[in-house]
Amino acid sequence: MKLPLEPFRIKMVEPLKIISREEREALIKTAGYNVFKIPAEKVFIDLLTDSGTSAMSDAQWAGLMQGDESYAGCRNYYNLQETVEEITGYPYVLPTHQGRAAENILFSTLLDKNSVVPSNIHFDTTRANIEYLGATALDCVVDEGLDAEIEHPFKGNMDPLKLKAAISTYGTERIPLVCLTITNNSGGGQPVSMDNIREIKEICHTHSIPFFLDAARFAENAYFIKLRNEKYKDISVPQLVREMFSYADGCWVSAKKDAMVNIGGFIALQDKMLFEKLQNLLILREGFPTYGGLAGRDLQVMAIGLKEVLNEDYLAYRLEQVAFLGNLLLEAGIPIVKPVGGHAVYINAKKFCSHLPQSQFPAQALTVALYLEAGIRAVEIGSLMFAYRDNGSGKWHYPELELVRLAIPRRVYTASHLKYVADAIITLYQNRNQLKGLKLVNDPPFLRHFTAVLEKLD
Ligand SMILES: Cc1ncc(COP(=O)(O)O)c(C=O)c1O
Repeated sequence: MKLPLEPFRIKMVEPLKIISREEREALIKTAGYNVFKIPAEKVFIDLLTDSGTSAMSDAQWAGLMQGDESYAGCRNYYNLQETVEEITGYPYVLPTHQGRAAENILFSTLLDKNSVVPSNIHFDTTRANIEYLGATALDCVVDEGLDAEIEHPFKGNMDPLKLKAAISTYGTERIPLVCLTITNNSGGGQPVSMDNIREIKEICHTHSIPFFLDAARFAENAYFIKLRNEKYKDISVPQLVREMFSYADGCWVSAKKDAMVNIGGFIALQDKMLFEKLQNLLILREGFPTYGGLAGRDLQVMAIGLKEVLNEDYLAYRLEQVAFLGNLLLEAGIPIVKPVGGHAVYINAKKFCSHLPQSQFPAQALTVALYLEAGIRAVEIGSLMFAYRDNGSGKWHYPELELVRLAIPRRVYTASHLKYVADAIITLYQNRNQLKGLKLVNDPPFLRHFTAVLEKLD
C-alpha cells in the first residue's frame, strides 16, 4: 500500500509512553468509561480530535514571537484581517477564542426560540448553541450522507429538496440563516461539492435567507473538490477556496482545524451592519474586536496557518494519510464510513458491534475497548452524543449513524503510528463478540458526551 509521504521533517519531538493494561483498566473505570476524563499523558496515540492538536510549523513558532499584545488595534489583527479577506473575500473579521464562541455570538444575535436553522448536519457544538437558545437545528443532508456504506464523492451535500421543504414548512421568517458544514464533521468528514454550495446559495438567495459556511475544514473540502470533480482539477486550491466562500454571506471558523493553531477562531462577513451588531456581543463575551479572546501572538500564528494550509503538497499528504489508515482497515474487512473523510476515519460501530443495541452505546463501548487494547483514544459520535429522550413519552430516539471517529491531528503522527492503530482495531474486530455494552449513569442536559458517566454491562 502507498505510504503517505510527509512533506516536512521533524525538528522537535515529544516523548510518548504506553502504560500497562492494568493501569488503563483502572483509569477508564475511574473515568466512568468516558475517554474525555482520561489524562492525556495516559494516552499513547491520541485520536480524540484533530481540533487544536496540530503541530505548528517553524514559521508559526517564529510568528509567536511577533505578537503585538496591545489591547486595541494590534498589528496581528490587521494581518489576520487581510489574510482572511484574501482567502475568503470577506472584509469584516471578528476573532474569537474558538469556533463555539463564534457560533454563540452569531446565533445569540440572529436567533430566537422559534428559529429553525437548516444545515447538512450540524456539528455538536453548533447544535447545542442553537438548542440552548430554544431554537431548532435541522439536518438536511442528502440520504447518501446517512448511509455509512454508500460510495458517493460528496456525501456532505445538503439535499436541496429537504431545504425547500423546510422553507415551505417553517416559512422564511423562522429561518434566520442556513449553513453548510464544510467538510461535514458529524457525517464522516465528507466534503460538500461546489455545485451543491452554489445551489444552496441560490435557494437561500431566492428566499432572502442569509447563507453561512461552518468552515473549520475549508481547505480539505476544497482539495476534495479538486480531486473529485473533473471540472476543477486544474484550478488552484486558493481559487477553489475563494469560489466556495463567494457563494456565502459569511462564515464561522474554528481555526483549530485547517488553520493549524492550538486555539482560535473567527467570524468573517460580507455585511458591515451585521459585523457591527456582532461586535457588541463579542466585546461582552470574548473581548475587544481586535483580539476577541486571543493573544496577539495567537492571531499571528492563525494568519500564518491559514496560508500554509493552502499548500497542495500538504493537502495531498493530509488526505492520503487519512486514506492510508482507512485502507488498512478496509483491507481487513472492518466496516468504516466510505469513502474515507478528510480529517478522520469513522468506524461503523453498528456493524462492528452488531450484537449490541444502540441503547447499550456500541460506539462508546468500542471507544473504551480501543483504549484498553492499545492506549488509543478515539471519540464516539453516536448515541452517547446524539440520542435524546422524547419530552412527552420519555422514549429514546437514536441517531442513524453510530460511529467511532479516529481523528488525525495535522502533522503529528507518522505512518507507523497509524499502522499501530490499524493493528489494534483489527485485533478488536477479530474478537468483537466479546465487546460488552454500557449504560448511562448520569445524563447531563446538553453536550452529554463530554461529562457523562457510564457503567459496564455484564
Ligand atoms: C464543523 C465544526 N464546527 C464547529 C466546531 C467547534 O469549534 P471549537 O471546537 O473550536 O469550539 C467544530 C469543532 O470540532 C467543528 O468540527
